[in-house]
Amino acid sequence: GRPKVVICRDLGPAMPLLMERTDIEVVLWPEDRGCDRAWLLKNIKGAAGALVLLPDPINEEVLQAAGPDLRVISTMSVGYEHIDLPLMAQRNIRVGYTPDVLTEAVADLCVMLALMASRNDGVAYTLVKEGNWPKYAWSPFTFCGPQISTMVSSPTRTVGFLGFGRIAQSTLTRLVAFGVTHCIYSGSATSAPNPARDAALQAKHKLAALERVDLDRLAGESDVLFVLTPGGKDTYHLVDAAFLQKMKPMSVLVNASRGTVVDSDALATALREKWIWGAGLDVVEGEPKINGDHPLVREPKCVMVPHIASATFETRMAMATRAIENLLGGVFGTEMPAELGDR
Ligand code: GLV
Ligand code: GLV
Repeated sequence: GRPKVVICRDLGPAMPLLMERTDIEVVLWPEDRGCDRAWLLKNIKGAAGALVLLPDPINEEVLQAAGPDLRVISTMSVGYEHIDLPLMAQRNIRVGYTPDVLTEAVADLCVMLALMASRNDGVAYTLVKEGNWPKYAWSPFTFCGPQISTMVSSPTRTVGFLGFGRIAQSTLTRLVAFGVTHCIYSGSATSAPNPARDAALQAKHKLAALERVDLDRLAGESDVLFVLTPGGKDTYHLVDAAFLQKMKPMSVLVNASRGTVVDSDALATALREKWIWGAGLDVVEGEPKINGDHPLVREPKCVMVPHIASATFETRMAMATRAIENLLGGVFGTEMPAELGDR
């Protein structure tokens, strides 16, 4: 019969790409919320492929439930922390993901978070929306924060990136318009230095410096620091109390990668004790179970949004389309536009 595919989320305007196909049997999670584990385990039996998202752990349990026909897991995300990659390789199951198409949307949000965190916008916005337009707003120094534009254009001030992939480089492009002159970054221990790429980027953006540095220098010299590295055990709590203590008191930290890279308790302490000026977070350890008592939610200098960096109509449509193309490529044994393992 036709190969069966399990789709763990309604893909909205991208659904016709699946539903119009007569050569597959589509089994779709019917509700507008994360798919139940029990539903997935039941319905994946005999499937050739599954389209999944970040909250769906893909592990031995899923493979057991699926049986021998499973050929592909396609995740609608650039991250793949939720997929046991060594296990997939061992069972010859191909894995697709959605890099590139979300780069610009995430870079936009990175800049937004940096601006919001530097300018006290979390506090200011909340006051207005709760009906408390401040009577004292025009007292000269209330709500003031460091200015991103002159901050990065000053010869001694610097934008830093923990992880310097596609998203970081697109964020840098935007910051050039704010007058950035110095850029430093740290790459993973396993990624080879790329002096030719760096020289080309420095020339393109007319930067005074673009340099790969160690974590000590990254912490100590960045005025705005963007965390844009993959998650997983290699990057777990890279930003910890020791790192934060080395940062500048007027610096701003942005995390749009994985919550696990930043130690939440240490960050709350850093903000409370003014080791750094502010933080802007798209992701946080332990999400989505984050309530009003969370130390970072309670921290006025921490601006938080609930993991929405790629959430534009254009980008989510491109991600869904790519995830479907990856799924079909895996099911029919043809090319997948973005396959993990052959990057
Ligand atoms: C979002 O965090 C993603 O990995 O796509
Ligand atoms: C993610 O796509 C990155 O390379 O930064």
